[in-house]
Amino acid sequence: MLSDNLIIQFPKIGSEQQGYISIAEVGKTCPFEIQRTYWIYDCPEFMKRGGHAHRHNLHQILICVAGQVEVALFDGVEKKAFTLDNPTMGLYQPPLVWGDLIYQQNSVLLVLASKLYAAEDYIRDYQEFLQIAHSAREG
Ligand code: TYD
Repeated sequence: MLSDNLIIQFPKIGSEQQGYISIAEVGKTCPFEIQRTYWIYDCPEFMKRGGHAHRHNLHQILICVAGQVEVALFDGVEKKAFTLDNPTMGLYQPPLVWGDLIYQQNSVLLVLASKLYAAEDYIRDYQEFLQIAHSAREG
């Protein structure tokens, strides 16, 4: 089952006059060591991306730093939908959880990841994902 606590609230420091800063710190608002960050931008309106899960222990936090991104997470049993539209908010995507994302135009999604990029770590085939998620639950 997907945890009820997938949303991370980052601190927000500043004012309307100055603007704001938010912070993700390992051991505080980020529950894993960060080995990689990447960001997705300049997507056409309502662009669908994602459509995969990760085989191994890849933990990620998704932060919509501009615009709005709809995210659906699915662990093979339960599906949860999230609207990311606030840079103070992070969505934790655990390992072996399928993510489907829809981007509004001019959105920027920043991702904090616990591991380096590995192409072979991706599960892009939905049926294969269902099988792997099922086997993982069986132990
Ligand atoms: P992908 O993860 O499929 O993007 P999305 O989930 O947003 O649809 O990655 C798109 C391309 O970028 C793919 O060819 C792999 C490459 N890529 C890297 O080379 N390094 C990375 O860290 C990431 C995340 C992707």
